Amino acid sequence: MRVDIISIFPEYFAPLDVSLIGKARERGILDVRLHQLRDWAHDVHRTVDDTPYGGGPGMVMKPDPWGEAIDAVLASGEAPPRIVVPTPSGVPFTQRLAMEYAAEPWLLFTPARYEGIDSRVMAEYGTRTRVEEVSVGDYVLAGGEAAVLVMIEAVGRLLPGVLGNACSAVDDSFAPGAMENLLEGPVYTKPPDWRGREVPEILLSGHHGKIARWRRDEALRRTARNRPELLAALDPEGLDKHDLKI
Ligand code: ADE
Repeated sequence: MRVDIISIFPEYFAPLDVSLIGKARERGILDVRLHQLRDWAHDVHRTVDDTPYGGGPGMVMKPDPWGEAIDAVLASGEAPPRIVVPTPSGVPFTQRLAMEYAAEPWLLFTPARYEGIDSRVMAEYGTRTRVEEVSVGDYVLAGGEAAVLVMIEAVGRLLPGVLGNACSAVDDSFAPGAMENLLEGPVYTKPPDWRGREVPEILLSGHHGKIARWRRDEALRRTARNRPELLAALDPEGLDKHDLKI
């Protein structure tokens, strides 16, 4: 998969050199290309922002450098990439969207600073490819760069060959299927007794059916406690008759 990122802080993406994503890049599974937006700003100060029309606080990112930068990235490949514009005003980034992105050959992220990018940029490229404004949560970051790191980490681990054990992604919280809209329950490893706290006996029993049942009950219990709105939205079709009455 190819991923391009246009930003005024390309150095912000140093974490993509390490861990799972760094390894995926070394192995050629993920091809990340960083671009400095200011390379397409032509005044002496390499200005990328201006005051908002209609007044108000803050600055808006100018369409000209973004347009030239995106044109240059699009010209470097064949079919245009899906464009992801991080903004707190976007649609929520979910595991489902991460899976959709993981199936794309090419993504372009356009993280903004200030109050965001002049809206005409999204309208312009929306006529040529899929452009989505996406939020990673109901809070406001200082810029979209951290949101891009979040999305790349979520997408990158879903790419074939990136996770050691492909089943790790199947059992994830939010993964479509049995775990859709359920949070993963607690996990344990050795030793069986730590400071007098014992691992639940069922996990040592070797009884796979009972362990699966216990894990599902724990997932339901944790979801009820931490995210009751998710539990309320569970499809009754997805519940089995043994599920706890919570
Ligand atoms: N930029 C600023 N806040 C953001 C958020 N919550 N999600 C995505 N991009 C952002």
